[in-house]
Amino acid sequence: MIALIIHGGAWNIPDILLEGHRAGVARALEIGWNILSSGGSAVDAVEHAVKSMEDDGTFDAGRGSHLNANGDVELDASIMDGTTFRCGAVGAVHRIKNPISLSRKIMDDSEHILLVGEGAERFAHEHGVQLCNPAELRCSREIDLWNSIRMKEDFQTKQPFQNQPSDTVGAVALDRTGKICVGTSTGGTLNKHPGRVGDSPLIGCGTFADSAVGGISTTGWGEGMIKVVMAKTVIDLMEMNGGDPRSAAEKGIEHLKRKVDGHGGVIVLNTRGQFGISYNTPRMARAYRSSAMDAPVVQI
Ligand code: GLY
Repeated sequence: MIALIIHGGAWNIPDILLEGHRAGVARALEIGWNILSSGGSAVDAVEHAVKSMEDDGTFDAGRGSHLNANGDVELDASIMDGTTFRCGAVGAVHRIKNPISLSRKIMDDSEHILLVGEGAERFAHEHGVQLCNPAELRCSREIDLWNSIRMKEDFQTKQPFQNQPSDTVGAVALDRTGKICVGTSTGGTLNKHPGRVGDSPLIGCGTFADSAVGGISTTGWGEGMIKVVMAKTVIDLMEMNGGDPRSAAEKGIEHLKRKVDGHGGVIVLNTRGQFGISYNTPRMARAYRSSAMDAPVVQI
């Protein structure tokens, strides 16, 4: 059994952006699926699927991310191998084009898990990852959006989850060896305070993998996800319910809403290659495929 599920953010995706989201998650699925189906590892499938969405320009991840209160792109990401429990993550980086790949480098080549800011960028430089010009990550769509909201005195970073964006991306893969890997990447919330770090790089909040139970990637209002330790909570629910990803995903989103009035979505995969998807935003872009299915599914 091999399986892969991708998300491209949970929010009120406007009609005009639907096609870009559909195409972006479908392409990420295809890239990851080609790796898995040719015998590649869940770690490679997740890294390359997420990287394609960071490069896409459609999503709040990598190029095209939301701007912070300084008008800069500041990125977070993480990756976790559910067999070894090794993980790597970066927070608040400005000069990294593909934070998911830097997260993987930290997982593979470091004794640490989470590196932030300048220290993460120095690690990248020391390990041969080219630093980019921060201007390359800013796109005109996000500059216009930021200009339209930054003078609003009552703007709060939580608001967009109720009626506007959050496009965090993620992938969960199961490979032939039974390894489950999860990766998540984001530009975080619109107009966030510089230095703000969300749930995506926090293991147990935005990302969690355990090859004996399953894997999950989250998207949505990060402060809420952190408060309920969302990713680990859903995996614990799935372990307790006998491995049903659908019910665990639904219960997780109910819990998020009830406890902290949180908004967002989750993708979950179990050891049998079954999927769970739940969200309480108007839309969530996702795509999935397993060796038990004849064709991929792409939905918003
Ligand atoms: N879920 C992404 C963030 O809040 O940063």
